Amino acid sequence: MTLANGHLKDVVSSDALSRDDLEVLLDSAARFALKPLSESSFIAGESVVIYMNKASTRTRLASESAVAHLGGTPIFVRGDELQIGRGETIADTARIISNFAKAFIIRTYAHDDVNEFAKWASIPVINALTDDDHPTQLLADWVTIREVFGKKVSGRKFTYLGDGNNMANAWMLMGARLGAHIVIATPPGKWAPNNAVIDRAQKIAREHGGAIEISHDPESAVRDASVLYTDVWMSMGDDESVRSEKLRDLAPFAVNQKMLDLTASDSIFMHCLPAHRGQEVTAEVIDGAKSVVWRQAFHRRTTIQALLFHLINKDLRGTV
Ligand code: CP
Ligand code: NVA
Repeated sequence: MTLANGHLKDVVSSDALSRDDLEVLLDSAARFALKPLSESSFIAGESVVIYMNKASTRTRLASESAVAHLGGTPIFVRGDELQIGRGETIADTARIISNFAKAFIIRTYAHDDVNEFAKWASIPVINALTDDDHPTQLLADWVTIREVFGKKVSGRKFTYLGDGNNMANAWMLMGARLGAHIVIATPPGKWAPNNAVIDRAQKIAREHGGAIEISHDPESAVRDASVLYTDVWMSMGDDESVRSEKLRDLAPFAVNQKMLDLTASDSIFMHCLPAHRGQEVTAEVIDGAKSVVWRQAFHRRTTIQALLFHLINKDLRGTV
C-alpha cells in the first residue's frame, strides 16, 4: 500500500519494494551490520508491536533486537493474548495498535489478514511471514548473497529446491526485481508454486532483466548454480495429514553432497532455517564449508532494522 503523497507505508509482499527501495535497504543493512548502534535514538521512547500467531526464533529475536538497536521498545504479543483472539476485528485492533506504536510487525497464517491490518493501521505494517510470503527473510538473503558475490547477478543462477511454498514465492518475487536468473525446482502438481505468483514474477523479471525458470528436474536445476537454497518441507500451517505423501514426493529434491557437487565451483548453500538435517538437507551440506546459513540468520536483524528505519522515515517509494 502506498500513501497519497507517494511513499510506501507497508511491506506485505516480496513484490512491494521497488528496485531503488531494495538498493536503499540492502545498503543500509550492510551499514547496520558494521555499526549496529548508528541510529540508536531513532525511535527513543517509542514502541514497535510484534504480533505472532506462529512459532519463531530468528524473526522474533531479530525484530526485538532491531527495535532495541533503534532505541525503541519492542512489545511482543501473541494473537491469543489480545481480544482479537476473542473476536475483536482486525480493523479495530489495527486502530488501537496504531495509537501505541511506530510500526507493526506481524507473523500469521492468512496473507489477506496482513493486507487487512495494513489497510486499517496508520503505522507501517511489516509481514514477518504468512502462508504465502516471507519478505524480510529475502532481504537478509540478498545482503548475504551480495557479501559473497557482489551486486552483479548476470551470469549466475540462483536455484531453490524443494517445496513450492512461501519461501519459493518470496525467492521468485524479490530475485526477479533484482534481475536474477531464478530457478525453482519442485515436484510437479500440488507442491509446485502458485501459478499466479509465477506469472507475476515472470513479468517482474522481464522488466528487470532477470528470468524465472520452473523445473521439476532437481539435477539440471542445480547444475552450475551459484546459490543452492532450500527450506523445510513441512511448513507451519501445513496440515499434518499430508506429511507422509509430501516427504515421499519431495525426497528427490533433498540437498546432499552429490547435488552440491553439481553446482558452480564458487557456489554457496542457503537455508532460511529452521532446518531438518536428514530431510531437506544433509548435515554434511548445512554444516559444511559452502553453507552461509549463520550469516543469513545474522542479517535478519540488520535488514529488519533497515526496513523499520526507512519505513518509519518514509524513505521508500514502493512498486505501485
Ligand atoms: N527464518 C525464519 O523466519 O526463522 P524463524 O521461523 O525462526 O523466525
Ligand atoms: N516455509 C517455512 C519457513 C519458515 C521460516 C514455514 O512457513 O514454516
